[in-house]
Amino acid sequence: MKKIIIYTSKTGSTEKCAYELYNNLDNTDIINLNKNEPNINEYDLIIIGSPIRIGMIDKKIKKFIYKNLQLLENKKLAFFICCGFDQNKKTYFETNIPENLMNKFLICESFGGETDINKQTGINKLLVKMISKNNDINIKILDDNINSFIQKINEFDKKSL
Ligand SMILES: Cc1cc2nc3c(=O)[nH]c(=O)nc-3n(C[C@H](O)[C@H](O)[C@H](O)COP(=O)(O)O)c2cc1C
Repeated sequence: MKKIIIYTSKTGSTEKCAYELYNNLDNTDIINLNKNEPNINEYDLIIIGSPIRIGMIDKKIKKFIYKNLQLLENKKLAFFICCGFDQNKKTYFETNIPENLMNKFLICESFGGETDINKQTGINKLLVKMISKNNDINIKILDDNINSFIQKINEFDKKSL
């Protein structure tokens, strides 16, 4: 099964997760949507990854989804987000993904996130500082979620042979 990972990333964590998938999946291409526009016709499974900011997926990812809605409806799909508040993932999926497409996803998962203050600029630096001050919040990449995502795709891959 030919696969592609299509992602964007503002401060690198979605990119890191996308490459973690890429390094653990066979027969897979990877594209940063900020640099290239993929031709998804040639793929069986499309894996889409986006960071969450103010509750929203990246604009480029959203535009890509709506532009290719009909094509995507006929593909196998998987979706991941990087976000600080993993507990809100259900809301993030429901608000950002068209309802008819939601049913098509093999997996929809949050990989957690990172909030490195040194990678932020302007007002974002201030926002991240405010979030980080709250010691109850432990924002990190959720390796277990990435591993079970990889496992599910590999199992699906085996079944489709
Ligand atoms: C300005 C800003 C807004 C954010 N808004 C949210 C949010 O609404 N919900 C959330 O769970 N995480 C939020 N985050 C955390 C990011 O999703 C997290 O840092 C993620 O790892 C960023 O991915 P990236 O490094 O690929 O850009 C926000 C981060 C920034 C800097």
